[in-house]
Amino acid sequence: MFKKILIANWKEHPKSGREAVKIFGAAMRAKTPKNIKTVVCPPFVYLEKCASTAVRRPNAKGRAALGAQDVFWKDEGPYTGEVGPAMLRALGVAYVIIGHSERRRWLGETDAMVNKKIGAALGAGLRVVLCVGEPAGVRKKGIAAAQKFVKDQLAKDLRGISSDKKIARRVVVAYEPIWAIGTGDSADPADVRAMAVFIKKQLSFLFKSPAASRRSFVLYGGSVNGKNIADYLQYEAVDGALVGGASLKADEWKKMVEAIKTLR
Ligand code: 13P
Repeated sequence: MFKKILIANWKEHPKSGREAVKIFGAAMRAKTPKNIKTVVCPPFVYLEKCASTAVRRPNAKGRAALGAQDVFWKDEGPYTGEVGPAMLRALGVAYVIIGHSERRRWLGETDAMVNKKIGAALGAGLRVVLCVGEPAGVRKKGIAAAQKFVKDQLAKDLRGISSDKKIARRVVVAYEPIWAIGTGDSADPADVRAMAVFIKKQLSFLFKSPAASRRSFVLYGGSVNGKNIADYLQYEAVDGALVGGASLKADEWKKMVEAIKTLR
């Protein structure tokens, strides 16, 4: 039986805690079978509220796991504004998105920073959702250029990360071509499949294990919604989706879960 992961990245939404609880509650109510894992990543300020909503509904059918959208590489210290991996763990957070292109663009996050964050998050027992993906200018040069870009990102972001099976298994890679994010210009599903296979090969190499390509999870992100999600997840190599805009709408979330359910 296949296993797929659906991750909601709320980004800097919504503006109020009340709205956050409403959206989170809707995600919890969407009935998900055992082979679909759902993860919701709200802004830091709503994590605690969402965690207590989850605790109050321990038997909810579509029990979503909690994720954060970023993490710092130190557990505590004089780092104004930062949140460490241990703090997230203490809240019941299981996943953390690292290296999203929006952070790389607006906050100047470098591969070296992403690398440190991944090491710290894995060390604290978190699962990492590492985002990689090429800008439009690179994609215009062709698939080979896009693959080279992603290969370089993976090599830098995962440099020195333990290839221990148990640790490597906690790294999920989300392929998010920058030109497809929030634009409605979603990537061609066959291209995404090819990129997922390529990424899995890179992971085998980086984690020094042929089995890593079978074990690893590679997701697609970029203008995914209820209508197109099955086009991507129909492929065995595409293990799930990282969804922005559509993840904030209860009906779209439900549609995405339903679309995954119909896949065989
Ligand atoms: P959209 O689904 O809004 O295109 O965002 C994708 C994304 O960046 C998820 O991390």
